[in-house]
Amino acid sequence: MDKKILIVDDEKNHRLMLKIHLAEEGFEILEAENGVEALQLIDENDFDLILLDIKMDIMDGFTFLSHMRQKDLHIPVIVITAFSNVKTAVQAMKLGAVDFISKPVDTDNLLDLVKNNLKASSDESISGADNVLKNYVFEGVYSEEGLGKIIEMLKMVAPTDATVLITGESGTGKELVAKSIHDNSHRKNGPFLAVNCAALNENLIESEMFGHEKGAFTGAVSQKKGKFELADKGTLFLDEVVELPLPTQAKLLRALQEKVFERVGGEKSIRTDVRIVAATNRNIKEMVKEGGFREDLFFRLNVFPINLPPLRERKSEIPLLVKFFIDKYSHSFNKLIRGYTDSYIQKLMKFDFTGNIRELSNLVERSIILCTSDKLDASHLPEPEHSDFSEDSAMDVRGNERNLITKALKQTNGNKTKAAEILGISRRTLHNKIKEYEIEV
Ligand SMILES: Nc1ncnc2c1ncn2[C@@H]1O[C@H](COP(=O)(O)OP(=O)(O)OP(=O)(O)O)[C@@H](O)[C@H]1O
Ligand SMILES: [Mg+2]
Repeated sequence: MDKKILIVDDEKNHRLMLKIHLAEEGFEILEAENGVEALQLIDENDFDLILLDIKMDIMDGFTFLSHMRQKDLHIPVIVITAFSNVKTAVQAMKLGAVDFISKPVDTDNLLDLVKNNLKASSDESISGADNVLKNYVFEGVYSEEGLGKIIEMLKMVAPTDATVLITGESGTGKELVAKSIHDNSHRKNGPFLAVNCAALNENLIESEMFGHEKGAFTGAVSQKKGKFELADKGTLFLDEVVELPLPTQAKLLRALQEKVFERVGGEKSIRTDVRIVAATNRNIKEMVKEGGFREDLFFRLNVFPINLPPLRERKSEIPLLVKFFIDKYSHSFNKLIRGYTDSYIQKLMKFDFTGNIRELSNLVERSIILCTSDKLDASHLPEPEHSDFSEDSAMDVRGNERNLITKALKQTNGNKTKAAEILGISRRTLHNKIKEYEIEV
């Protein structure tokens, strides 16, 4: 049976345009000029989806959504908003809309959205998180104000072979972005391998990157290929790249510049075809100034910089992300959660999110575990803790040092490198202070 879609819009031409495109795809379309008419049609028909304009003279979209809610109608609604009016979209989503599209409507985008949301409604179990994740980064739910510009940049750079340097606080999605660059490149069928450059030992990190010959160092009992070799025809993700020891930085530079390297303890020059994506949550330019990171290597890596803003600077994305994580987790906990109350989002907005999206994800996961109804509400959230780590206070470490250090360690789960960074002091200084104040880690 054809899926039935209701278009609610007070502009006749706009309705017609939408109708033509959707009818072509075999959908059955009914139209309403305003919210009142729409409610009537809903009484008489069984719709699979509603496309809703927000600005209408007789009963606007918001009021219509509230009515739907009161009547407990669970038809997916996609809201059509003026170009990049994200606030409106967010408000509509709080009232239960499942997605939004901005005017002028891009028809391909519209069809994708319609199909995705139809699917979700006919199949109550939530669609695979991985799919959503991939869409999310490029076409799916993100706000223009938030990641919008970055997504545009990603779309441009992904298909090229350009080296990308991703910066951003912990938990902002650097690895996710690196993976999506790979997935949207011509290398997508090749390997995506990550190297954690923060591994402490120089030998280990070099052998991880370039491999080693048998007997190259104590413990090198057999020959091993490095990630540069294994990632041939694929993408190599250099995570926490500023942590590389200086001698390794020199070797990496050569591998990038001349595209050849040798295994540790080996003589044969090896050539591979890898695309490099690097990431760091530290201020790499500062590190260059302080001499901890080679300037020439920095320029090699910084061909296409992408800076991911912290979540507190893109709070408008929170409702979209919450929806995403509900889909993801209710699936794995086998719960049918249909959404959240206004108070849930209001309380979430009060968090500082020093742990960024990872923190939000944990909060939603926790809420789902606690939730015994089909909606998340404020009682499923802990009280927002406000960190004292505005930049000003980080500068003022001396004042209440012990307190700040304890909090920083708590927030980073005892990760001293990250804690030191939040505090704006070196790891060594932090180490000394921990001893001095006898702080338990
Ligand atoms: N835009 C997003 N949409 C959905 N999930 C996201 C998004 N950004 C990040 N996440 C999720 O948040 C978590 C943290 O992201 P990720 O590991 O990519 O961050 P990171 O910047 O690499 O952090 P760190 O510096 O601590 O390594 C992951 O589980 C990731 O899937
Ligand atoms: Mg990471």
